[in-house]
Amino acid sequence: MLFTVSRRGLLSVMAAAPMTLAMASAGPAETVPTPFGDGAVPKPQAARLFGAAVRPDQLVDDTPLLHAIRGCQLLVPEYHGQWSAVEWRRGNPWYGNYDAICDFADKHGQQVRGHSLIWEQMTPDWARCEMLHGKDWATIERHFATLLPRYSGRIREWIVVNEMIDTEHGDRGFRRTTFQRAYGNDYVRRALETAHVLDPQAKLMINDYSLCYDNPVDEARRTQMLRLVERIKASGTPLDMVGLQGHLELRKGRISQPKVARFIQDLSAMGVEVAITELDVLEDDLDRPVAERDARVAEAAQDLLDVVADQTAVGSVVTWGLSDTQSWLQDRLPVTKAAQACSPVDCGKMNRGLPFDGEMQPKPMHAALQRVAAMA
Ligand code: XIL
Repeated sequence: MLFTVSRRGLLSVMAAAPMTLAMASAGPAETVPTPFGDGAVPKPQAARLFGAAVRPDQLVDDTPLLHAIRGCQLLVPEYHGQWSAVEWRRGNPWYGNYDAICDFADKHGQQVRGHSLIWEQMTPDWARCEMLHGKDWATIERHFATLLPRYSGRIREWIVVNEMIDTEHGDRGFRRTTFQRAYGNDYVRRALETAHVLDPQAKLMINDYSLCYDNPVDEARRTQMLRLVERIKASGTPLDMVGLQGHLELRKGRISQPKVARFIQDLSAMGVEVAITELDVLEDDLDRPVAERDARVAEAAQDLLDVVADQTAVGSVVTWGLSDTQSWLQDRLPVTKAAQACSPVDCGKMNRGLPFDGEMQPKPMHAALQRVAAMA
């Protein structure tokens, strides 16, 4: 998804900085259903992992949300793991966010996915300048070297490149990014090579959006992803996983289950595991009765989860947050009559595209996830 980082998001990055997990207390404040499966006993060896994007500040206070996070098997930093959050000033990496998430995960028997090493949207300005002027791969090497060796064995999989495809305005299917301008379209393959050298044990991944619907744009993007994976594999470059973000949008209608299934099978045939990396649902009509809205959201998620359930190549499902209150989708809502009058959160017109509502009450989407998790 293309977007600008919200002010709320940046403030939260900064607010999270000084916190430590020593502040976290023991038991949950109240009982909420654990996310996906019997969360109290995460099953890290299960065939398919379920998890969520988290923010370090959510791991501190003893809240129902924290209880739900403890039930996840896989944690992904929502945006605190990006280059600009780790190394805002050149040569001054700050590890507090990844450390906090890794410490929490270790304590609760969970896995962590690094997100992400390269993503245009959250590349610090100094790095953009350095890459565009110097065109020196050493900038990438230095960046990867700040993270991969430090977390080797703790972060066992990394999204190396996030959102590299653009079949509408790109260059031969590649998004015109700083990386693409500085190093050419081969940067994706080179980034995978560099990551592999720095942590040969890590599973390496590329991740993108708009790959699920039956429309010309998604169709072209699927084709481009398959071509890219084919080229990477043919060159012998290590690539273990492909992530389908799974940001579903009700205005686009239903996803194409046959197309998604075929896409996953094609990827799997090339020897890559598939992950649903950022599942959530953007609503199109907030004025309907809540029960109807929740049913439509669950139906959209279920469409994708049905495919997941059938495809053994899908090794993990991650939702992009757990509670609607903290979902990035609140900033992406279509403008409604209500939203014009006040902010969505204040006027009770939040997007309801995650498993739990603002009060951490599970919704039908939660049940859909639990059903497929029970099969894992
Ligand atoms: C989003 C976060 O959810 C926001 O809070 C933040 O302001 C920007 O990033 N694709 C991605 C994620 O890979 O990192 C994005 O997350 C959503 C789109």
